[in-house]
Amino acid sequence: MICLGIESTAHTFGVGIVKDKKVLANVIDSYTTKSGGIIPVNAAEHHIEICDKVIQDALERAGIKLKEINLISFSQGPGIGHCLRIGAMVARSLSLMLNKPVIGVNHCIAHLEIGKLLTKANDPVLLYVSGANTQIIAFDGGKYRIFGETLDIGVGNFLDAFARYIGLGFPGGPKLDKLAKEGKNFIELPYVVKGMDMSFGGILTNLKQKFNSKKYTNADLAYSMQETVFAMLLEVSERAIYHCNKKELLLGGGVACNSRLQEMAKTMCKENGSKCFILENQFNLDNGAMIAWLGLKEYKEGKKQNIKDTGIRPYWRTDEV
Ligand code: ATP
Ligand code: FE2
Repeated sequence: MICLGIESTAHTFGVGIVKDKKVLANVIDSYTTKSGGIIPVNAAEHHIEICDKVIQDALERAGIKLKEINLISFSQGPGIGHCLRIGAMVARSLSLMLNKPVIGVNHCIAHLEIGKLLTKANDPVLLYVSGANTQIIAFDGGKYRIFGETLDIGVGNFLDAFARYIGLGFPGGPKLDKLAKEGKNFIELPYVVKGMDMSFGGILTNLKQKFNSKKYTNADLAYSMQETVFAMLLEVSERAIYHCNKKELLLGGGVACNSRLQEMAKTMCKENGSKCFILENQFNLDNGAMIAWLGLKEYKEGKKQNIKDTGIRPYWRTDEV
C-alpha cells in the first residue's frame, strides 16, 4: 500500500511517499525570510506556488505515478491556519481526483511515529523540539500524553529570536550551534523549569540585556544559552523517562539537529542506562514522510475519514488524539 503525505503546518511544504514500511521519497521546500519571522499569508502563498512541483519531485524520486497512490494523508494540526489550509486543500483535491481515501493526522505524533519506524526505538519518550513546539511526549496508559511542555514560546523560536537579535539572521539554530563551540566562559542565566514545564521568554529577555551591556562575547552567550536551555529540556525528559518507566529517549523536531543537544542527550542516556535515538536531519525537520507514515499506520488500524471531517485543527493537542 502506498501513501502520499502532505506537511504544511508552518514554513515547510513537504511531500513524502511511503510504501508499507519504506520511505520512497521525502521532498521539502521551505519559505524563508531575510529578516523577521514567518508572515502567515506569505508562507501560505509560498506553499501554493510550489505545491505542484514538490508533489512532482516526490513522485519522480519514488519512481511512481500519481495513479498508483492508494491513500492521501496530511497534517491536520497543530499549526498556522493559513499554512495548514493549503495542505488540507491539496490533500482533499488529490483524494477527490484520484478517488482515494484521505486522512488528517496530528503533526506532533507523526514526529514520534517516524522515529519509531526509522530507528530501533520501540516505546520511547520523545523530546520534540521545533520552532513552535516544545513537548515531552510518550505513549502511556493507552494514549499519547504530554509529560512536560513550554509555557510560552517553543525552544526553536526562542533560539531563532535570540539569533536574530544578535544579527545572525534566520534560521538561527544552525548558526548558534556553530558559534557556541567557540564559547569559553559560562555565564549564569535563569534556569526556568516549573514542575515538568519550561519557560523561555524570561531567558530571552535576560540574554538581550546581557548582549546590550556589551560585557560578554556572542560566543560565550551562545554557549551558555545552549548549556542552560538544553539542560532544562533534558532534565524534564529524564524525569519523564523515570516516571513512565521507559528505557528509550528519541529526539525529534528541527532543534534535534543541534549537535550539542545530541551530545548532551547521549551523555544523559549513558548515565541513566537508557538508549538515545537520533534521526537523520531530514526526518527531524518538518517533513512529508512522517505524515505519510502516520496516515498509513492509522488507515491500517481502521481509521476512515469523510471529506467533511478534514477541516484543519490549528490547536489540536497531542493528548486529544
Ligand atoms: P513546527 O514543528 O512546530 O511546526 P517549525 O516548522 O518551526 O515548527 P522545524 O523545522 O522542525 O520547525 O524546526 C525549526 C527549528 O530548528 C529552528 O529553530 C531552526 O533554527 C532549528 N534548526 C534547523 N536546522 C538546524 C540545525 N542543523 N542545527 C540546529 N538547529 C537547527
Ligand atoms: Fe514539527
